[in-house]
Amino acid sequence: MDSQKTLSPHVLIFPLPLQGPVNGMLKLAELLCLADFHVTFLNTDHVQHRLLRHTNVQSRFIRYPKFRFRAIGDGLSEDHPRSGDQFMELVDGMEAVTYPLFTEMVTSGDLSSKSEQPATCIIADGFFSFAGGVAQQIGIPLIYFDTLSPCAIWIQLCLPKLIEAGEFAFKGDNLDAKITCVPGMEGFLRRRDLPSFCRSSDVTDPIIKLVLKEDQELPKAQGVIIHTFEELEGTLLSHMRSLCPNLYAIGPLHTHHKVRLGSSKATFSNSLWKEDKSCLAWLDAQPIKSVIFVSIGSLAVMTKDQLLEFWYGLVNSGKRFLWVRRPGSIAGDCTESQIPAELLEGTRKRGCIVGWAPQEEVLANPAIGGFLTHSGWNSTLESIVAGVPMICWPYFVDQQVNSRLVGEVWKLGLDMKDTCDRVIVEKMIKELLEGGRMSSWVGLIRCQN
Ligand code: UDX
Repeated sequence: MDSQKTLSPHVLIFPLPLQGPVNGMLKLAELLCLADFHVTFLNTDHVQHRLLRHTNVQSRFIRYPKFRFRAIGDGLSEDHPRSGDQFMELVDGMEAVTYPLFTEMVTSGDLSSKSEQPATCIIADGFFSFAGGVAQQIGIPLIYFDTLSPCAIWIQLCLPKLIEAGEFAFKGDNLDAKITCVPGMEGFLRRRDLPSFCRSSDVTDPIIKLVLKEDQELPKAQGVIIHTFEELEGTLLSHMRSLCPNLYAIGPLHTHHKVRLGSSKATFSNSLWKEDKSCLAWLDAQPIKSVIFVSIGSLAVMTKDQLLEFWYGLVNSGKRFLWVRRPGSIAGDCTESQIPAELLEGTRKRGCIVGWAPQEEVLANPAIGGFLTHSGWNSTLESIVAGVPMICWPYFVDQQVNSRLVGEVWKLGLDMKDTCDRVIVEKMIKELLEGGRMSSWVGLIRCQN
C-alpha cells in the first residue's frame, strides 16, 4: 500500500509570486488535474491571500480532489509593495525565508518521501535555481517553467558570451550598437533591446549573479517548459535546444485551457487584484476597433510626469481609451486636483479608467483596436492571440527585448522604447488605430488557435 502511494504521480508546482507566473502555472496545474495527476500548488502567503480574496479559484478547483494549495512566507510584511524598485527586496526575502521552508517541506516535511503523498516531481519557476539542488537531494525530477519570454531566456543563456564580447557592460551609452553574439538575433538586436539587467555596468551586480546561476541550472533540469508556440518562435527554439534539449513550448496556455475546459467563451480569473468588469459593458457600447487599451501589468510603476505624458497623448489623440491604473502603479501621490482640467474632461468624454481589468476578455472585445502595453510576456502573447496590435512601452526585465520583436521582427506593433512623450504617444495611437497595420499576420495566429 505504502509503495503504491509513493508511486502515485504528484507534481509540486512552485511559481514566482507574481501575477504572470501564478496565472500561467495555475493554468498548467488545471491541465495536469484534468490528466488526473495529484497536484500541490505552492504560493507565498501574500499571493495566496490575494488569490482567494479576488477570485473564485478555490471553488473552481474543488472539482479536482487530487489538487491542493499550500502557502509559505516570503519574509516581507503584508503591506510591502513587492513591485517597481522594491522588487529585489522580494528576491532577498524569498532567499532568506521561502527557500529554506520549501527545502524543509520536500526533504523532511509533508511533501517528503516520509509523508503520505510525497511529491514525485517539481515544476518550479526558472528563477528558482536553488530547486535543482533540492530535487537532486531527494532524487525526484525537476522541470523548470521559465515564465520570461523565450527571447529573453535565450539572451540570458548567452550572457557569458555577451560579457566576454564586451557587449554587456554599456552604462547607458552607445545604445544603438548592434549585438553580435546572440545567435539568431544578430540582425536586429541592439544594446537598448537587451533585458534590463544588462543595463547594469557591473558584472558583480547581484541580479547578474542570479542570471548566471540560472544559466548553469536550466540545462541540468529534466525539462524546461516555456510559454510560447513553435509557429511564433521556431528558429529561436532550435537555438535554445542546442543548450536545453528537453525544451517544451506549451503556449499560449490560455487557449489550451479554454479548449480543454470546453468553451471558447469560458473565462477564469487568476487575478491578484479585484477585476472591475464594468469596463466590459463600457466596451460593448463602443464602435468596433475604436478603443486603445492601456495597461502596464502587475509590477511596472510610472512617475507622475510619465502619467501626464501618457494622459495628454491619449486625450490629444481624440481616440477612446480604456486605462488600467493598478493601485500603486503611479509613484507618489497624485490627486485629481493636481490633474489639468482638459485631461479630466477628455477622460469623461472618451475614457474609462479601472483599477484592474479582466484583460483576456478585454483584448477579445471587438471594440479594442490596439494595446498600449509594458510588453510583459503574458500581455504580449495575449495580444497576439487576440489579434490586437501593440504600442510598446517596455519598463524592465524581458520587456525591452519583447518590444523589439513586436516592432521589428513580427511587425505587430510600434516600439516607443526609452521615450515617454505626449506627441509620440498621440502619433502612435493614431497610426495604430487608423493605419490598419498587421491584421493579416495576426489573423493567421488566430486561425491556428
Ligand atoms: C512580469 C514581468 O513584468 C514580465 O516582463 C514578464 O514577462 C512576466 O512577469 P507582469 O509585469 O505582470 O509580469 O506582466 P505580464 O507578463 O504581461 O502579466 C500580466 C498578467 O496580468 C497578464 O496575464 C494579464 O492578462 C493580467 N492582467 C493585467 C489582468 O488580468 N488585468 C489587468 O488589468 C492587467
